[in-house]
Amino acid sequence: MPTQRLTDLPDAVRRLIEKVSGPIVDVGNINAGLNSAIAARVRTPEDTLFVKGLPMDHPRVWTQNREAQISPYLRGIAPELLWHIEEDGWSLLGFEYVNGGHADFTPKSRDLPAVMATMRRLAKVPAPALELKSMPHRLRTFVDDPADLSWFAGDSLLHTEWNPHNVLVSGDRALFVDWGWASTGAAWIDPALWLLWLIAHGHTCDQAERASATHPAWALAPAEGLNALARVQRRLWDSIAAESTDDWANPMREAARSWEEHRR
Ligand SMILES: Nc1ncnc2c1ncn2[C@@H]1O[C@H](COP(=O)(O)OP(=O)(O)OP(=O)(O)O)[C@@H](O)[C@H]1O
Ligand SMILES: [Mg+2]
Repeated sequence: MPTQRLTDLPDAVRRLIEKVSGPIVDVGNINAGLNSAIAARVRTPEDTLFVKGLPMDHPRVWTQNREAQISPYLRGIAPELLWHIEEDGWSLLGFEYVNGGHADFTPKSRDLPAVMATMRRLAKVPAPALELKSMPHRLRTFVDDPADLSWFAGDSLLHTEWNPHNVLVSGDRALFVDWGWASTGAAWIDPALWLLWLIAHGHTCDQAERASATHPAWALAPAEGLNALARVQRRLWDSIAAESTDDWANPMREAARSWEEHRR
């Protein structure tokens, strides 16, 4: 369920931010992402920050902790985390503000090489010793044969949420945001999940697979594992699209169906 986004910063939140970053001179709302009660551009005399927050009693407040814990491992891959505050009933994360736009995932987009360059950096990060969700666990309700889950096991650090709203492009650099669902699993899962978004943005299945094939882990992806993931993603997006009004739910359902048929 999306969380209702607050359009003004509550006084308590304003005070907490000012305590660590100095007086706020301007606040701008962010029109993307649905899960945070607070997602704002905050300017102080010295800095511009991106502040993301949830009340401490929110069922997904663990995602804030996950983002805070993982941030030190993501230099050059994600915007830098400047602080994490848990006070007065709020969990707040203050990030370096990225002045950029969401990635363009359409065919021939000039953003694609930048996105892949950052994915390659991510592929080199050893999975940190943190408690992360595992892909077999996350996908367990979408397989019809539980044996398929073993394809998804691995110890690579994966982002997994390749909505272009989570990819900020500034100049020729792409940075990935929204690490609350970072997971461990087989290294090829990230490029394979990314290609569904490429298909949803107009790539053919072949074009999308060719783009993913520039990821170092792609050559190691077993065809059976990819086929199993295609089946799982089809079920997952069928179920998301049945319940969601998000703009991308139907295109992603169609993309997942196309890819599953392509892999048959
Ligand atoms: N460091 C940043 N600098 C500038 N903008 C950012 C930054 N981090 C995130 N954003 C913008 O804020 C939006 C929401 O951020 P994020 O995806 O982390 O939060 P969310 O509300 O939890 O999202 P979701 O609903 O996707 O889980 C992003 O889609 C992006 O447009
Ligand atoms: Mg997001």
